[in-house]
Amino acid sequence: MEFSQLIQARYSVRAYKPDPVEDEKLAAVLEAARLAPTAANRQPFQIIVIHTEGKKEALQRVYSRDWFTQAPLMICACGVPRYSWVRADQRRYLDVDVAIVMDHLILEATNLGLGTCWIAAFNAQAARELLGLPDDIEPLIFTPLGYAADRLTVKERKPLEDLVRYEHW
Ligand SMILES: Cc1cc2nc3c(=O)[nH]c(=O)nc-3n(C[C@H](O)[C@H](O)[C@H](O)COP(=O)(O)O)c2cc1C
Repeated sequence: MEFSQLIQARYSVRAYKPDPVEDEKLAAVLEAARLAPTAANRQPFQIIVIHTEGKKEALQRVYSRDWFTQAPLMICACGVPRYSWVRADQRRYLDVDVAIVMDHLILEATNLGLGTCWIAAFNAQAARELLGLPDDIEPLIFTPLGYAADRLTVKERKPLEDLVRYEHW
């Protein structure tokens, strides 16, 4: 897909078909995540691939919307704080790094015809229990990964003049 079309095409998919995701497509979205830039190239992330079959009840404790478990695959992007870059004023860039990783993954998924939805409003404790995460690994974003059963509607965004300033505040 041409890049501008890809940006237009991505949307938050909130209904999924049960159709399986091809292994090559999963490999391609994971490779897109691997190639993402991170601060000082620290790569302070881990991606967990979850097959939803047989785990739907536990996954609904992580995030209760019914569409959350419809896709065959789920991705959880985790941060690894001990590897992350920290600026001189102590500002830690872990969340920025993991967001870029997830955006790479999600845009490649869109490119391959797969649906995704960024999910931050999950129960972190339930996620920790389901995935057996050690204390020093932070679950930051989930997305289902599968074929959409809904369609893009309108993209509601603020006008550019509300979002961009030139030269100074
Ligand atoms: C960091 C982040 C967290 C989000 N968390 C959730 C969420 O917990 N649940 C949800 O349904 N959508 C979530 N979204 C999706 C946003 O609501 C959505 O991206 C926004 O409304 C724009 O719509 P679009 O993705 O269809 O373009 C999240 C998006 C981002 C970027």
